[in-house]
Amino acid sequence: MSKILIRNGRFLDPSTDTDLPPGAGELLIENGRVVAFETGGNPIPEEGTEILDAEGAWVVPGLIDVHAHLREPGQEYKEDLASGGTAAVAGGFTQVACMANTAPVNDDPSVTKYILDRAEKESPAKIRPIAAATQGLLGEVMTEMVALKEAGAIAFSDDGATISDAAVMRRVLEYSRMADAIVIVHAEDCALRGAGVVNEGTVSTKLGLPGNPAAAEEIMVARDIRLAALTGAKLHIAHVSTAGAVHMIRKAREAGLLVTAEVTPHHLTLTDEDTMGFDTSTRVAPPLRRQTDVDALRRALADGTIDVIATDHAPHASYEKEVEFTEAPPGMLGLETAVAVCLDLVRDGTLTPIEFIRRLSTNAAGLLSLEGGSLKVGSVADVALIEPNQEWNYDPARGFSKSRNSPWAGQSLTGRVTATIVDGRLIYDHERGVLIR
Ligand code: DOR
Repeated sequence: MSKILIRNGRFLDPSTDTDLPPGAGELLIENGRVVAFETGGNPIPEEGTEILDAEGAWVVPGLIDVHAHLREPGQEYKEDLASGGTAAVAGGFTQVACMANTAPVNDDPSVTKYILDRAEKESPAKIRPIAAATQGLLGEVMTEMVALKEAGAIAFSDDGATISDAAVMRRVLEYSRMADAIVIVHAEDCALRGAGVVNEGTVSTKLGLPGNPAAAEEIMVARDIRLAALTGAKLHIAHVSTAGAVHMIRKAREAGLLVTAEVTPHHLTLTDEDTMGFDTSTRVAPPLRRQTDVDALRRALADGTIDVIATDHAPHASYEKEVEFTEAPPGMLGLETAVAVCLDLVRDGTLTPIEFIRRLSTNAAGLLSLEGGSLKVGSVADVALIEPNQEWNYDPARGFSKSRNSPWAGQSLTGRVTATIVDGRLIYDHERGVLIR
């Protein structure tokens, strides 16, 4: 395997709080590992190396997405492990945790193993399956967590659906301790949400669309925090969208509970006002909220109340989205645009570059107990190069996902992933495309 020498970039490693000015660092990769990280200005000999000139770029640990829908098995017309894994590396993600709402649902070790086998053959990014917490995502009967973990599942979630029965949720949390895995919840009281498709408020009234109140999320976040206290389990709250939920998560953490949380690029940057044109790509679950919620989410990400940015990449076919707003399935693409969209938080001073990368990589590795999130010598050589000032036009038709449901379609974005290395191999280069599967 070739040696890769990266130089001239701005090296950012949250795992060691390293932020080197451009040109001050050099990184050598060999046999899938970081074998040298020179920070003192001494050049690493170039002999026998492939040089990757990172001028103008940040050199960061490969990004890790803790929440994506890759649709295989069963809905390959929306996405599959090859297209989703390729979209991932084009977005700087070297590892992706994929949700269990496939067809069949990933509630059986045979499905977990199938995903891992297919991913090994097809995906340029490393795929980490999240198994269902209940069979068929029905919220009734628990899955065999230990067997699923042994098959390769890294966490448990019924994402897309809520476990409405508190007694079932309690058992899930109790058993997750035995399996030593976190439970990721989609917190939404289904009865209260009803047919709601946008945030309940002025915008839902103006549009005449059924509203989904913030309280639907907050009631479930409150319940699950209580159950985390009862069971001592590790609870992770997916796609937090309201200021009220943020407040409860902050209190739970102050109380020492093992509660973590994620926020999506869209909940950090868009509001329900963005739905005013009835663009169905803005229909997501939970819905886009108000500016005050966005502000609270940004503050929570900055102060550590929210641990990670997760894409909730949710591809849907055009024919499914090109319908009445109320009929469109919820979800939007995220893997290829997350970096550019979220760099807004660096530009406005909410996050420093190193804290930005911490939330997209190092914290995600810690959350799911994955190797990665570091450029330290000895680390797995998963690396991304990001040019934070490069402008580009996002056209989903020219992207790698099979679907096109993005509210950023046709827009000019700033900040681009220019290269991605997985296990020491240059897998993606944005000028040459995908180099190896
Ligand atoms: O918007 C969403 N889409 N939210 C979810 O929780 C599920 C997802 C999907 O599977 O499409």
